[in-house]
Amino acid sequence: NAVNIAIVGSCNTDLISYVPRLPKPGETIHGTKFSVGFGGKGANQCVMAARLGVKVAMVSKVGDDSFGHDTIKNFQTNNVNTNHVSMTKEAATGVAPITVNTEGQNSIVIVSGANMLITEDDAKSALSQMPDLKVVICQLEISPHTSLAAMKYAKEKGILTIFNPAPAIPELDSQFYKYADIFCPNETETELLTGLPVTNITEAEKAALALLDKGCSKVVITLGTQGSVVVTSETRKAIHIPTNKVKAIDTTGAGDAFIGSLAYYLAHYPALPLEECIKRASHIASVSVCGAGTQTSFPWKKDLPSELF
Ligand code: RIB
Ligand code: NA
Repeated sequence: NAVNIAIVGSCNTDLISYVPRLPKPGETIHGTKFSVGFGGKGANQCVMAARLGVKVAMVSKVGDDSFGHDTIKNFQTNNVNTNHVSMTKEAATGVAPITVNTEGQNSIVIVSGANMLITEDDAKSALSQMPDLKVVICQLEISPHTSLAAMKYAKEKGILTIFNPAPAIPELDSQFYKYADIFCPNETETELLTGLPVTNITEAEKAALALLDKGCSKVVITLGTQGSVVVTSETRKAIHIPTNKVKAIDTTGAGDAFIGSLAYYLAHYPALPLEECIKRASHIASVSVCGAGTQTSFPWKKDLPSELF
């Protein structure tokens, strides 16, 4: 029952409206479908890793409300250790109203609620109770101080850290670059952090080097349909890793499926080259894009081709 991956991060309830196109400011439009699902970048990454069959723990906070109770039940259904998911009366469970257009693109509002109440001590005390940890993942949907404290703690213990700077903030504390073993933004997050355009692979390669210059040792930029770009400080040679083409139904949470899968490969197959881990994680993310919703579209190990394992 030893936990190998911990996610210190957010839980949201996703309130998803499917629309012909994203509304403009001041505009009212008709949606075609509505659904409620489990989300939050932290929770999504956690559930994805757990579905691949590795022991995962979530470190998070939810409100003492129906969304909070359901969130904990959902983790249990997905074989996630919830010993460190606490419930607070001080705030409501995080929510994310999401609109998804017919191209599968989305826009998301997050109301963090209880997520912002996860403290540095919550994170450190939880991690200190997991002696077999191999990977810790953090994002930016909780207090940045808490994410940083968790990564610093992990790094000191020799645990691999993956940092997903999402949603991006322009003035990111420079320590994040130092404490992340793998720094993993998407194209828009990279643009915000570097001030450089990231509209194609060549630009992504340049931006990846700019992130290395900020102090990262390994950078993986996800590029949606274009796959990803990886670079390490050892070689400083950016490598493009394409992904398989699919018909997008709903891209919500695809980045989270990628990161959760990447953590799984790093924890479970430590000898597998990073490029191969990325290739396989991209494949799993592309499967998620073909299904509606966030966690609802994440595959289980048994649904995936055996070459991935
Ligand atoms: O990355 C997708 C997630 O972002 C959604 O599940 C939503 O909750 C927001 O946090
Ligand atoms: Na999806």
